[in-house]
Amino acid sequence: MNLLKSLPVKHTDLIFSQIGYGCMNLANSWDSTPLSSDDYKKAATIIDTALEQGITVFDHADIYMHGKSEEVFSGIWENRSSLRQQLVLQSKCGIRFDNDPHPGDPKRYDFSYLHIMQSVERSLKRLKTDHLDVLLFHRPDALVEKEEFARACNELFLDGKVRYFGLSNCSASQFELLQDWTDEHLVINQVQVSLWHHHLITDGFFVDLKEYTGINDTLNYCQKNGILVQAWAPVAGGIFSKPLDQIEESKRAFVDVVQKMAWNKGVSADVIALAWLLRHPAEIQPIIGSTNPDRIRDSIKAADIQLTREEWYVLTTAAVGNLP
Ligand SMILES: NC(=O)c1ccc[n+]([C@@H]2O[C@H](COP(=O)([O-])OP(=O)(O)OC[C@H]3O[C@@H](n4cnc5c(N)ncnc54)[C@H](OP(=O)(O)O)[C@@H]3O)[C@@H](O)[C@H]2O)c1
Repeated sequence: MNLLKSLPVKHTDLIFSQIGYGCMNLANSWDSTPLSSDDYKKAATIIDTALEQGITVFDHADIYMHGKSEEVFSGIWENRSSLRQQLVLQSKCGIRFDNDPHPGDPKRYDFSYLHIMQSVERSLKRLKTDHLDVLLFHRPDALVEKEEFARACNELFLDGKVRYFGLSNCSASQFELLQDWTDEHLVINQVQVSLWHHHLITDGFFVDLKEYTGINDTLNYCQKNGILVQAWAPVAGGIFSKPLDQIEESKRAFVDVVQKMAWNKGVSADVIALAWLLRHPAEIQPIIGSTNPDRIRDSIKAADIQLTREEWYVLTTAAVGNLP
């Protein structure tokens, strides 16, 4: 039974499953070790598990495991070419590691026309597909040029290489600025938000207090404009499932609250963390990143849990300390 509903995303005709799968760790390592046939088999098992659970969205980036995560993903097309139309395949560009391409080059963000075009060409080749459903710009580039950004988006769209665009790790005003610069719709903002890294949601409680950082407008902006919020690291690497003695002391009481609620509901602490995200009215889409098929299956149970307002605030209060 498919527990996942689909999320309508404004301006698109794509089917976004309520939970997406992040392919960052799909390959073998963050170095140049070549992919083996076992790596392809392992990736196929992971992707098949996600598909069986009703996941339609697969999130990539040009840099994940230096391109190998995209490459190993392409193994799934074998004997299943019709699968391509059923998926939302997204990738990202804009982060460049140090020494790329020249020794001594620093790590940097790059939304230049040339880099965007080259990055997309390479992603398409590695993914063995002729188009991306969504291209996300990975982290704001402080030196982004209006004409270059607009030209790249326009050409990629007109050439049929990218259907929709989005941003990642952007505030409301960063999003608004880049949307003003391009005629293409920016339909996604992928950000780090979770019960552990909760500030995009909880910052609004502190608007008249000194702890306020002003970043909470991101979710309000997305909700108002029908932009899909994707949550990366939605279970914060499984922190809530760790034994309490492995949790830093100041966070133990918080994690204990999550674990007790999980125990009472007969689910894992990861599931509670995901249910907390799903309860938010912005219809946040967690992008889960586990490479363990059992954990992928387990995550989907979150769609079957509707936290009450009281339960949601118990978790939230545990996360922030006390509400003002
Ligand atoms: N836009 C961005 O800047 C950005 C940044 C980072 C990531 N992302 C995207 O978001 C996706 C998800 O990120 P993420 O991988 O950090 O998310 P996550 O789902 O919060 O964490 C997954 C990681 O936590 C481990 N884990 C989860 N539950 C666990 C448990 N109960 N016990 C032990 N380990 C557990 C997994 O190990 P196992 O594999 O062993 O289960 C895996 O290493 C990525 O794949 C990528 O697509 C985007």
